[in-house]
Order: sequence, then structure tokens, then C-alpha cells
Amino acid sequence: MGKKVLVCGGAGYIGSHMVRQLVESGFEPIVFDNLSQGHAAAVTGVPLVRGDLLDPAALAELFAAHAFDAVYHFAALIAVGESVIAPDIYYRNNVVGALNLLDAMRTAGVDRFVFSSTAAVYGNPETELIAETHPQTPINPYGRSKRMMEQVLEDYGRAFGIRSVIFRYFNAAGADPSGEIGEAHDPETHLVPNVLLAALGAREGLDIFGDDYDTRDGTCVRDYIHVNDIASAHLAALDWMETRDGSHVFNLGNGNGFTNREVLEAARRVTGIDIPYRIGPRRDGDAATLVADSTRAKTLLGWTPKTPEIEAIIESAWAWHRAPKYGPFSGA
Ligand code: UFG
Repeated sequence: MGKKVLVCGGAGYIGSHMVRQLVESGFEPIVFDNLSQGHAAAVTGVPLVRGDLLDPAALAELFAAHAFDAVYHFAALIAVGESVIAPDIYYRNNVVGALNLLDAMRTAGVDRFVFSSTAAVYGNPETELIAETHPQTPINPYGRSKRMMEQVLEDYGRAFGIRSVIFRYFNAAGADPSGEIGEAHDPETHLVPNVLLAALGAREGLDIFGDDYDTRDGTCVRDYIHVNDIASAHLAALDWMETRDGSHVFNLGNGNGFTNREVLEAARRVTGIDIPYRIGPRRDGDAATLVADSTRAKTLLGWTPKTPEIEAIIESAWAWHRAPKYGPFSGA
């Protein structure tokens, strides 16, 4: 039997792709999810335990029932704009929830943890490409909640021997080629799905938030990374922790920035649809440009993204959005 791993948030977008890769690689994932954002239908063939990180008793029961080799933590709130309006909810879920999880691990003697962090910990970048050593001055509560947990992991490594790998994702997009899982947030706030929903007529058109940024066409620049490439780095993290104490941080991005208008143009080419859009005001908490230097993950983890091209990423998302198996547009 493969090693048992806990995947918190395994019914969500990135977590469900992780579960798939873990199964393919011979692991035995158990999903823990409160289904506030995730979908039960995204979890097939592996156990789904419905529960909340804010419920220590549920965590104690989970860790008593299974001997986990490692824990993946994808169960966080992720909308930058929402975090500005409701910081209380963000800190409770992303910090208190994660602390509960770490405490349950300590009680059970589990010492390997893979944490989903974000490019939002950097704030407004001082360099064109952002390396892990870049100063961290997050500009929204979401980024600050993740930054806090990174600091906690450093301290827990030293004090309690918790080994961790921290991944700072840039912009996750795309879907598994199986067509069985994909992005299905409600409400959807992310650019790639919103462009495609506009292409399908499921929303009136794309609202582009601001065109007066200091970028080549005035719209924000982001670095899009295929969700399965994020998941493959998380697999490599388990090997990395075999031989290393402490916490280790890696960026995950492709190192290519695309403006929001360029993403729209790429989606028009992929879909063949003249997707309507309008320019609106800036969204609170958005940095102008976020592009990764992921040299560290490539050289140290041996990580190689398989789908780095923006059109291929959008193509895979398009296949999902035309026939989603669950979520607000599935018709299920
Ligand atoms: N955008 C639009 N219209 C939309 C949706 C988004 O113009 O309908 C714009 C945003 O203003 C931003 C860009 O598209 O300029 C990307 O926005 P997303 O919401 O898709 O992604 P973010 O960059 O805000 O956030 C994502 C993750 C965060 C992470 C961040 C770090 O959701 O968890 O990347 O790069 F912190």
C-alpha cells in the first residue's frame, strides 16, 4: 500500500489536481474539506472527510483514524479583493485554521507539511522577476495571512521539528486533460475562467479591472502556471523533505508575464470567439506586476513545468469550461 497523505482542501481547484497526481504516483490520499469552496464531485475514488480546520475535535478524530506520512494544506480562502473587505474571515481561516492543523499534526507525531503560499506575500515588486529572496511587504490581508503562516512554519521547524515546503504560487490556471476536474469557484473571481465564461456567454462580458497601471498596455501583468505543474512540484516536495529539516520556500511560476489584455487576446485565439470586454476601475489590493523567478524550484527540486505556454494553459481551461462536471455552470 502507498503512503497515506492528508490533503486539506482536496475538493478544491488545486487540491483536486494534487489528489489525482498522488493517486497516479501510488500514494493513498485522504481528503479533508468543509466543501465551502470545494466540490464533493471533484473527489472520486479516495475518501472524503467533510470537516473544518476551525474544529479541533474533527481534526483530532481524523489524525486518530489515519497514520499520515505528510500533510498538504490547500484549504485557504484566496480572493484578494474579498480579503480587503473581510480580513477577520481571512485571518481566522488562513491563520487560525492552519495553526489548528499544525497542532493536530504535532499531537499525532506527523512532521511533514506542504503549504500553499502565494506571490501576494511580495507586495509590489522591486525587480522585474521576483525571486524568493525579494522583500516581503504584502499589500492585502490575504497576502499577510500567508506571510504569517510562513513565519509560523519557520518557527515550528526550529521549535518542534516540523519539516515544511512552502510554495508561493503565481497565477494558477488550466485544468486536467481528463476533463473530470477543473476550476469552479462561486463566485468566480479569477481572470482566466472569467474570460472563458464571457466567451460562453455565461457572463455578460469581461470586466478588466484598471488600464492605468504602469505596464506595457496599462493592465496588470501576471505569470500563469498550469495547475498540474503546481501539483507536480508538490510531489517533488515529499522527496525533498526526506532528507531536510526546517522550512524551505519555492516560487512556482513560468517566468513570463502577460497583461490582462494579452490574456484576453490569447483566449480569443484559443476560442475563436470575439470575447466582449469593458474597462472598469482598479480592484483593491492588486499589484501591477507579479512575475516569478522559479530557478530555485527548477534547480533544487528538479521541477519542470510541462505546460508553460499561455495558449495551452487557456486551451486546457477552455476544454473544462465548455463541459464542467460540477460547479455553478455545470447544469448539474
Ligand atoms: N481581473 C480582471 N477581471 C476579472 C478577474 C481578474 O481584470 O474578472 C484581473 C485582476 O484585477 C488582476 C488579474 O486579472 O489584474 C489577475 O487576477 P486574478 O483574480 O485572476 O488573480 P490574482 O493575481 O488577483 O490572484 C491570484 C491568486 C491569489 C494569489 C495571486 C498572486 O488568486 O491567490 O494570484 O499572484 F495571491
